[in-house]
Amino acid sequence: MRSYLTAVCIVTLFLSCSTREEGGFTVPPDYRSWGKPVKKLLDYPVPGHGPTFRVIYANKTAFTASVAKNQTGTARITMPDGSIIIKEIYKKKGDVNKKEPELTIMVKNLKSKLSLHGWFYYVKHPGKPITRIDGRLCIGCHEAANEPHPYFDKNAKGIFRDYLFTSYIK
Ligand code: HEC
Repeated sequence: MRSYLTAVCIVTLFLSCSTREEGGFTVPPDYRSWGKPVKKLLDYPVPGHGPTFRVIYANKTAFTASVAKNQTGTARITMPDGSIIIKEIYKKKGDVNKKEPELTIMVKNLKSKLSLHGWFYYVKHPGKPITRIDGRLCIGCHEAANEPHPYFDKNAKGIFRDYLFTSYIK
């Protein structure tokens, strides 16, 4: 009985801690009404995201991003706090916009010390709870967005792009 009670206490403590946990995220149900930084369906294989079909959505805050220049005139993009970018990943082209896709998500949170250079990274598999990725898995590759890379505008000048391959500057 005592061990049962101890177990209940531990579970209760765990639940109350995890619900208050900093950096939690719920996928906004209307995210498909948001704007897209890239209009076309992404269908080329990409390292880290596999041979898949991908659609990227971003909230209004993300599209208020602007370019700043430092004293030496070097451009730098810093995404506004509260920016949310959701990338849908489909295995089959025919499932796009139909089946519930896998989601990879980046949420800008400048206040939290737990964020990775200001971003939280999440993965959500269909029917499963969302998982925050705190290790090097996501950021390790997204650091490459701050250097010249082969995607979209290619960041030829290698400016700081706040870990994003896509651009939110009008
Ligand atoms: C090996 C490299 C690599 C890894 C690892 C990776 N990504 Fe990406 N990610 C990319 C590339 C390249 C793009 C550009 C869009 C495309 O073609 O899919 C991208 C795009 C994105 C975008 C759209 C915003 C942007 O940067 O343009 C999000 C959101 C995203 N990834 C989330 C994640 C999350 C979350 C993880 C970890 C689970 C992750 N990524 C792991 C390479 C990677």
